[in-house]
Amino acid sequence: MTDAAQRARDLRRRIDHHLHCYHVLDAPEISDAEYDALYDELVRLEAEHPELVVSESPTQRVGAAPQAGFRSVRHRQAMLSLDKTTDETGIADWMARTRRTLGEGSGVSFTCEPKIDGVAVALIYEQGRLVQAATRGDGETGEDVTANVRTIHSVPLILAGDGIPERFEVRGEVYMSHADFERYNLRARESAGKTLVNPRNGAAGSLRQLDPRLTAERPLSMFCYSLGWVEGDWQPLTHMEVLATLKKWRLRINPHVEEVTDAAACMEYLHRLQSARDGLGYDIDGAVIKVNALSQQAALGALSRTPRWALAFKFPAEEATTTVLAVDFQVGRTGAITPVARLEPVFVGGVTVSNATLHNMDEVARLELHVGDAVMIRRAGDVIPQVMAVIASRRPPQAVPVALPDRCPVCGSPVEREGEEAVARCTGGVNICAAQRKEGLKHFASRRAMDIEGLGDKLIDVLVEEGHVRRAADLYGLSAQTLAALPRLAEKSAANLVQAIDRSRETTLNRFLFALGIRDVGEATALGLARHFGTLDGLMAADQEALERVPDVGPVVASRILTWFAAEENRDAVAALRAAGVHWPESAPQAEAPQPLSGQTWVLTGTLTTMTRDEAKARLQSLGAKVAGSVSAKTHTVVAGAEAGSKLAKAEALGVRVIDETAFLAFLESTEA
Ligand code: IVH
Repeated sequence: MTDAAQRARDLRRRIDHHLHCYHVLDAPEISDAEYDALYDELVRLEAEHPELVVSESPTQRVGAAPQAGFRSVRHRQAMLSLDKTTDETGIADWMARTRRTLGEGSGVSFTCEPKIDGVAVALIYEQGRLVQAATRGDGETGEDVTANVRTIHSVPLILAGDGIPERFEVRGEVYMSHADFERYNLRARESAGKTLVNPRNGAAGSLRQLDPRLTAERPLSMFCYSLGWVEGDWQPLTHMEVLATLKKWRLRINPHVEEVTDAAACMEYLHRLQSARDGLGYDIDGAVIKVNALSQQAALGALSRTPRWALAFKFPAEEATTTVLAVDFQVGRTGAITPVARLEPVFVGGVTVSNATLHNMDEVARLELHVGDAVMIRRAGDVIPQVMAVIASRRPPQAVPVALPDRCPVCGSPVEREGEEAVARCTGGVNICAAQRKEGLKHFASRRAMDIEGLGDKLIDVLVEEGHVRRAADLYGLSAQTLAALPRLAEKSAANLVQAIDRSRETTLNRFLFALGIRDVGEATALGLARHFGTLDGLMAADQEALERVPDVGPVVASRILTWFAAEENRDAVAALRAAGVHWPESAPQAEAPQPLSGQTWVLTGTLTTMTRDEAKARLQSLGAKVAGSVSAKTHTVVAGAEAGSKLAKAEALGVRVIDETAFLAFLESTEA
């Protein structure tokens, strides 16, 4: 072998190894730049010596020319679908039936794994080389998508390891990760291109591109989940063994596969999977439960379309289509006007949904939404329902485009959009607009502000509507009799509420500042201001420059604070609250406080029990630290609360210092001395 041939082979091996580390194991061993250098060298070498180019070279993943159409592929073994259930009884019944069919006494164990929401693909490897990839199609006949599947970096073009049979088929799911989906849509929006509706459609569309170069621009991934047929010497005994062996050969296997022996353990797995669902980074629509022993799978066999040895457990669908009956405009605390779609009620994500937020008018424009449109909505986890896309082909002729009203729907004041801002606002302010008044009071009473227990949203609406309360200070003048006279409030609750209002008089400066509802002054900024100035009078006397010296306060926030306190009605409102007895301990200003963490970047992850994430952030910022959202090699310390996930894992992988909440509290205390 020539030196060049030797070097090309060496480079191919090393590049394949690093692709495997990065895309399959999620554990890169070299930097992107080092990888690029290897890849570029191979490209150069192959350009100089075209005879060295082989089809499994990593440079040949996107080599193929556009096709006129896809060749049909007849599956040697039909690709079946799965029988499904949505409840515990379904699983227990299926397990019992399986045991009965196999004969009582024969031990049966099962496996559980995520049901990936993508596109099923069958790969054929011949002498360890990927020779064909086909879609499921109708189960009997699919399409040859080899050129496209070759662009998927987690699919090895060549396998590595011992005992690889002469020819075999492996099956799995090709999908688009959330990160790749977001990245693709971000770029599509920037270039005014067409966005993908969801990752599943992204995967399906990408796989069916006739030009593999376009597929390569929409990165896909693949998890392998079962064996098709085998020619040659390999007789695995169990599903678990199949997966472990495929993994050894470099095929990508989902890490959440577990063996269970009964329905209770299976349910426990499903609960864990459901809570992990939002953090997986890809869509799953349930789990697949399989009989582990392949001999038992064979004995159970299949019905016409579904095998008897597997069962899908479907989570409630997170997407549904419905009709937009109307679009209303809600007015928030700062006057921000949010369009809300009123929907034909539809069951999605486990609940009946009849409203979905549209965020702002830019979003309405992006969707080209009309009242009367059929829309695809999504409700995932506890996230508020979103309108994902309009199904334009189903638009009725009488559909009306959605327009921003030029007057506030609540108070009739003019609506304005500041410059390029996406948000439109009612210009009425709290004195004129009842909606802003109500929302401001709800914020004031909320748990993280003045924390008035029992003063819920509905009650505030009534108090404002009946004229009992105009501004926050009025809450402190409410009597138990007044409250008890309101509909739906019993005497006992009225008395409790008066007590809760009374208790809220004793507060802290940061809670009070947050409760005022100054635009852009969140919990973290409020805490920063309180620590910096120590007293309300100190803050109120500060000018723009003094405000900008507070950690995390920039020119915009500083001017919002100035403007807010410059308004007479706001100063009156504050004075009235103080006159009503609202008070807090004042302290010396900390303007010259030392900044021991200056130059350091900290990351907060998981749940803290003694403070909110925003409070922790403000404390760190007041000590001079930058608080970042993601972990990198430059991170100084990661504070890991309960149930910390991928950020903790990444910190550990990078060798970044990690402390738990106890150590964090001890550290904060030590800085207070
Ligand atoms: S095993 C006989 N395992 O679900 C079929 N399927 O409704 C055996 N799917 O078309 C399939 N994740 O594309 C299996 N971990 C998994 C899966 C999975 C997703 C898909 C598969 C199939 C569909 C069946």
